[in-house]
Amino acid sequence: MPDAVIEMNNVWKIFGADADAAMEAVRTRNISKTDVLREFNCVVGIADVSFLVEKGEIFCVMGLSGSGKSTLVRHLNRLIEPTAGSITVLGQDIISLSDADLREVRARHIGMVFQHMALLPHRTVRDNVAFPLQVRGEPKSRRWAISQRCLDRVDLTGYEDRFPRELSGGMQQRVGLARALASDPDILLMDEPFAALDALTRRQMQEELLQLWEDTHFTVLFVTHSIEEACIVGSRILVMSPHPGQVKAELNAHHLGHGNVGEEEFSGLQQRIHDMLFADRILEEEAAPHA
Ligand SMILES: Nc1ncnc2c1ncn2[C@@H]1O[C@H](COP(=O)(O)OP(=O)(O)O)[C@@H](O)[C@H]1O
Ligand SMILES: [Mg+2]
Repeated sequence: MPDAVIEMNNVWKIFGADADAAMEAVRTRNISKTDVLREFNCVVGIADVSFLVEKGEIFCVMGLSGSGKSTLVRHLNRLIEPTAGSITVLGQDIISLSDADLREVRARHIGMVFQHMALLPHRTVRDNVAFPLQVRGEPKSRRWAISQRCLDRVDLTGYEDRFPRELSGGMQQRVGLARALASDPDILLMDEPFAALDALTRRQMQEELLQLWEDTHFTVLFVTHSIEEACIVGSRILVMSPHPGQVKAELNAHHLGHGNVGEEEFSGLQQRIHDMLFADRILEEEAAPHA
């Protein structure tokens, strides 16, 4: 029996005022994403998504822009509520949690890293990392000790008293990562965390993430639009199809790119994912040649 940390079953998210009616029409008449928009003025964000993340893996969600990746990940700490389906995080039905329990899960069990980390500009690096602990009411000595440990882990020793604006983009993302690690979460949710970085810095951050993961084996759900990145960091990859936010495939990747970028198995997997997405594009163009 796998040790499931996250489980989604048949999750749908339809955006719009008439989402429930649209959902009903999808169920009874199996109408398409286009018809959902035309008949109900609603947008299908994700459609019938199911997957399971095991403890200690880096599970990648890969898909082109607009394929529902952010929508998917925001369900996991209930920033978004599903229109249908069930979601279990760390053994708890996340949808039925009370507000107090939800706050607890967000503060102690789930860390989040986004593309733009929104660091606090007037606080030092040390205080940025310690901030979630301050919110939690931890004493200063403990906050600073944890902050230091997390900054050491992301190679920012010596930058404690700097302000975010004094750091490069890559270093700011590391501060964000350290901040997410400060509450010692069971799960790290990373939504395109390195997408805004230049190629070299990005590659370096991927390796650092894998190193950190090898040392600790925390559970990561990592979102990316890059096929290469998914193959480098992922133990498994959920490939999302943009039509309409469905799961296209789930593949084993075993962190193939870790130190082995360019090897045959690595390029083979990349090609396979590329072909899957490209097949979608061709179908779409055939269906709507003048769109
Ligand atoms: N709050 C929202 N209201 C309406 N539509 C939305 C909202 N959020 C996302 N969408 C739509 O849902 C789809 C998936 O978006 P998103 O999850 O952001 O994709 P990705 O992160 O893969 O780029 C897109 O068509 C997007 O326009
Ligand atoms: Mg996104």
